[in-house]
Amino acid sequence: MLFGKKEDRPQLDMERLPAHIAAVMDGNGRWAQKRGMPRTAGHSAGSEAFQNAAEYLNDLGVKYFTVYAFSTENWKRPEEEVGAIMGLLDRYLRKAIREMTEKNIRLCFFGDLEPLSDSLKQLIAETNEISRHTTGMQVNVCLNYGGRAEIARAARLLAQECAEGRLQPEDITEAAISRKLYSADIPDPDLMIRPGGELRLSNFLLWQNAYTEFYFTDTLWPDMDEAELDRAIAAYQSRKRRYGGI
Ligand code: IPE
Ligand code: IPE
Ligand code: MG
Repeated sequence: MLFGKKEDRPQLDMERLPAHIAAVMDGNGRWAQKRGMPRTAGHSAGSEAFQNAAEYLNDLGVKYFTVYAFSTENWKRPEEEVGAIMGLLDRYLRKAIREMTEKNIRLCFFGDLEPLSDSLKQLIAETNEISRHTTGMQVNVCLNYGGRAEIARAARLLAQECAEGRLQPEDITEAAISRKLYSADIPDPDLMIRPGGELRLSNFLLWQNAYTEFYFTDTLWPDMDEAELDRAIAAYQSRKRRYGGI
């Protein structure tokens, strides 16, 4: 193993922190099953882990933290699990509005929010309003988010501008596409963390992850504590980013 025993906590170089960390919050169901608990208990533990991670990364000085909370494919799950996740989100957001804003964290949402319940949409609108006044780390919660859906949406928005004569096909550059993504105003992730032992992206930030450094771990998301986050950041700091150069 790269950093010795699992309990070891690596020393971080505070001058070279990733500005933007993305994470797939995966492994909640298995975390609960291992303990003989219902999967929903894992989602509950996962939301605690999210809040801890956000507060820790904010304290460290990370500028952006983008988390995958619910994918466009997660609707395939049994209705009761989807219902439980949505209920948790509702409760979680009420708490987060109080606690995270006290810590000056800004909460934003990426994804197609239209199919969400009216109460969730209302809470998101309230959160956005409060977040306009916070200046700390920006946390982007990806909800009903899919990387392909996001790119298709950007294409539709650009096509609409072409159809209206406001844009020419030759104006559709990489920068023009980037500006139509949910992440329009922020830099691409430097580090993408995937816990839960799966070695795939599962449709997360397909465009933005072009040159991101990946950190895969068997740790399940609810167990993703400060030490494990440090190991991910230390792994990132040990990499040499070349962007195609030498
Ligand atoms: C991630 O945990 C949470 C969501 C996808 C909403 P999972 O529910 O996928 O947990 P595992 O992968 O089944 O353990
Ligand atoms: C990715 O996890 C989505 C979220 C964590 C929100 P999944 O559990 O849905 O991914 P797959 O199905 O294992 O690829
Ligand atoms: Mg999973």
